Amino acid sequence: MKDPKREYADNPAGKYRFWTLDYEEYPSKPQVAGNAERKAPVMEFGTARDEDKNRYSDAAVLRREIEQIWRKAWVIVGHVNDIPRPNNFMKADIGPDSVLLVRQEDGSIRGMHNVCQHRGTILVTQDFGSTKKFVCPFHGWAWNNDGALAKIMKPETYQKSALCYDLDLPEVRVAEWKGWLFVNLDIDAAPLEDFIPQEFREVNEAYDFAKMVRVVDVRQDWHINWKTAMEAFVEAYHLEALHPQMNPFFDAYDAQIDLYDNGFARTIHANLRPTPTQPSYRPEGLPDECKVFLGEAGVEDMPADIDGVRPALIVAKRRNQDRIGMDYSGFSDEQLVDNWNSSIFPSCTFSYVPEGVLVQRWWPHPHDPRITRYYYQVYVMPGIQEVPSYMGVPPEADRSGSKVLARTYADNGDLGILGPVLAQDAMFIPRVQQGVESLGFKGSVFSDQEIRIRQFYDAYYRMMEG
Ligand code: FES
Ligand SMILES: [Fe+2]
Repeated sequence: MKDPKREYADNPAGKYRFWTLDYEEYPSKPQVAGNAERKAPVMEFGTARDEDKNRYSDAAVLRREIEQIWRKAWVIVGHVNDIPRPNNFMKADIGPDSVLLVRQEDGSIRGMHNVCQHRGTILVTQDFGSTKKFVCPFHGWAWNNDGALAKIMKPETYQKSALCYDLDLPEVRVAEWKGWLFVNLDIDAAPLEDFIPQEFREVNEAYDFAKMVRVVDVRQDWHINWKTAMEAFVEAYHLEALHPQMNPFFDAYDAQIDLYDNGFARTIHANLRPTPTQPSYRPEGLPDECKVFLGEAGVEDMPADIDGVRPALIVAKRRNQDRIGMDYSGFSDEQLVDNWNSSIFPSCTFSYVPEGVLVQRWWPHPHDPRITRYYYQVYVMPGIQEVPSYMGVPPEADRSGSKVLARTYADNGDLGILGPVLAQDAMFIPRVQQGVESLGFKGSVFSDQEIRIRQFYDAYYRMMEG
């Protein structure tokens, strides 16, 4: 192995950002199109203390965020397999707005505002369902599931001129990237292709997101600003202190961080090797986390220590891919063992391996800046059993994709449902919210390992300032 610290010394300006591994010991390194690990050019955001504390608690800031960001950006809301069949619909509540995405007879997906055009009732409160008509429970108006007005109750009671308006459900733009569904509330917005940077799509080429199915779906209110929450999930700097149980098998230190346009980012973490900062993190023997992966990949001769885990896993995954139910041919060796974490602006992260992805979203509350609507979802390749433990997939979760999974609403205090790592975060972050609002806090200072927070605010302020 190269000494990563020496490598940093050779690249002082790129400290912490030029993580590379020596993979020569792996026998089967394939040539993969797209060069998934390629390093994006460094973006500089300076080192100034970030003194805008107001953004975490001011209702006027939240209103502006909704106008300037949430009603103008493409927002990821779900997946094509959440609405697999004609007449299936899903609902997404983004701040004060609510939208429906409906699978049409011809297989296309239409987006529309989820609001009655008579007097404004929210039409649908269910998250997922199937229907040909949306009927308003207040006075009984109805719309076909393509948004066209189907019925006015007692139309003879209206003067003709009172009904001369467009009363279809207003359209919402919908676009798809690799199975993920995005909406944009701005009917004039530039297309999704312009929003998701080309480089970001290219490095993600091999991940077969479109085939994945939802196996976990939890909604919870967290009593913190949506950005306070999201910030904690775009840096792994906190792992060593806050999630020490991961130190023996998750290298949170030597990460490669890549920043792309429009607030998109990707971090590559070396999974299944210890964080190198303390010799004591090095495990005796094999941590259970490693054994689980080696077992699923069909490794017969267990390596003696953690150094053997990654090479053994790469060889076994390639050899046994049919039995595992994966096609690894598009992935590099590194991707078979590394853990990626990406930012999908404005407030979604993916944590992922070829077999599955943890999707987290921190959406704004309609009017309370101190509450975020948290969505915790895991999507996996159909049939896959083992994904990293931080994803918190219960063993009994249905991985077949044959049924559309209902969403679970968890009380704020119900942390057990989140899996052990996310529960640590959810329990802890309210302390940050309390502190950033206090007189004694003068603003954040960021390490290079937290560069994605700076990058987020760069994109954020550009949108806030229009
Ligand atoms: S508000 Fe919906 S029918 Fe009256
Ligand atoms: Fe965390």
